[in-house]
Amino acid sequence: MAIASLDNGNAGGHFAAMRRKIIIDTDPGQDDAVAILLALASPENIEVLGITAVAGNVPLPLTQRNARIVCELAGHTSIPVFAGCEAPLSRKLVTAEHVHGKTGLDGPQLPDPTMALQDAHGVDFIIETLRREAAGSVTLCPIGPLTNIATAFQRAPDIIGRVQEIVLMGGAYFEVGNITPAAEFNIYVDPEAADIVFKSGVTTTVMPLDVTHKALTTASHVQGFRSMGTHVGRMVAEWTDFFERYDKEKYASEGAPLHDPCVIAYLIEPEMFQGRHVNVEVETGSDLTLGMTVADWWGVTDRPKNAQFMGSVDADAYFSLLTSRIARL
Ligand code: BDR
Ligand code: CA
Repeated sequence: MAIASLDNGNAGGHFAAMRRKIIIDTDPGQDDAVAILLALASPENIEVLGITAVAGNVPLPLTQRNARIVCELAGHTSIPVFAGCEAPLSRKLVTAEHVHGKTGLDGPQLPDPTMALQDAHGVDFIIETLRREAAGSVTLCPIGPLTNIATAFQRAPDIIGRVQEIVLMGGAYFEVGNITPAAEFNIYVDPEAADIVFKSGVTTTVMPLDVTHKALTTASHVQGFRSMGTHVGRMVAEWTDFFERYDKEKYASEGAPLHDPCVIAYLIEPEMFQGRHVNVEVETGSDLTLGMTVADWWGVTDRPKNAQFMGSVDADAYFSLLTSRIARL
């Protein structure tokens, strides 16, 4: 269905112009890797306080390892990387090797990381950081299943009111599902966690498939990465070559969605996104539609508005931001 008259995507993001302190909560994943690179390449907009890994695309031992590989690739070995939860709150882990490969970062050969994993648990890092930093000064950027964030909120409800904003990749409405006919992967893997996050009351901005399926890689975008003449540019091109094959075949499209960097791009140039402030509820009960994000796009209920649910992105602006920033690394 065509999306008519979108609200200004900035409505929930009045913080977006200022430099943000963020925690990236992630399950790398090639698109997670590009999101991390975009954040690390953008110090004028973003200060990465730490990266917390979660089980998702692949199990936790691989996601925490991949997060360190990406930091090293970017030359940012002082970013603290933490391992978080190894399984969803109450379900068996579902992974996505069919998309991301056995390691989660299949494509180019990258060396084992040498930077250490932090001793602390990722959830403790999230809690301690939110308690230490000024209230309202830390944005959470989940780009995997929401297990770490929900666990932190359950264990330390005092931090909920201290979060500046959650900007997450997950869910879908008009684009329906990618892991089931009804659900997007990040929400499907841990729907109970997603339910806790959407009900938390924190200002939340969502980058669903409705947006990311409008941010498709094209041959010229990939060539843009490859021809940067940098090691990082070549690695991004090779990751893209790898993960594209699955979506191109599935959707018979020219390219594949580069999902997770939308979260970071929003922090830098929010005006490239448009969406609506709506109610979003997560299905946790039905086997058929488990993990579906039911967005009241047309305002047909009285349910309280709890999320800025994005619907579109200026793809040219998005890829131009990605290319110009990643060329810095
Ligand atoms: C999401 O699922 C993962 O496979 C990607 O990394 C992204 O976060 C897209 O549905
Ligand atoms: Ca991800």
